Amino acid sequence: MGEILEGMQTEEARHLMRACLEKESLRSHCLSTAAIMKALASRMGKDPVQWEMIGLLHDIDYELVGGDMERHGEVGYRMLIEREIGEDIAGAVRRHNDFLSGDSQDPVDVALQAADNISGLIIATAAVKGGRITEVTEKTLRKKFKEKAFAAGCRREKVMGITRFMELPEFFSLALGAMQEIRVDLGLG
Ligand SMILES: [Fe+2]
Repeated sequence: MGEILEGMQTEEARHLMRACLEKESLRSHCLSTAAIMKALASRMGKDPVQWEMIGLLHDIDYELVGGDMERHGEVGYRMLIEREIGEDIAGAVRRHNDFLSGDSQDPVDVALQAADNISGLIIATAAVKGGRITEVTEKTLRKKFKEKAFAAGCRREKVMGITRFMELPEFFSLALGAMQEIRVDLGLG
């Protein structure tokens, strides 16, 4: 696939995500997860365009299902299949609700869980720094990761899954770098 076509695909995915999600914090969460997924794919020898799209689209049904975890992921899966988005992407979206799907050991699923959960910790850490993500360091993240009460929604055990593929400090640096690159889109300094 050519670079221009790939750019169109991710652009369309971004449009679709924005059309389905109104809440700015949720949009930022999807952009963050996508940026981390893209970086993870490059590091793990996978397809960066595909993984970025999975990140962009993983919570596509969140507002529609109103946080109903019995339907989250399932509805998203159908929304994507209806739009002729392939099983490789839609299936990962379906599986990422581990409440329904259980723990998958597939690298893409492990990566999505880690990206999904670390993005919240990074956003919360940036907020402590007055919204300046450029002032967040890997060392700060390591410290905040250990404080279980901080950004309690970040499921640490899901982040730990990535240690099958890389050490935690490397993952923190990779995720932080990926989010710093898109800081303008995230409304961060
Ligand atoms: Fe998510």
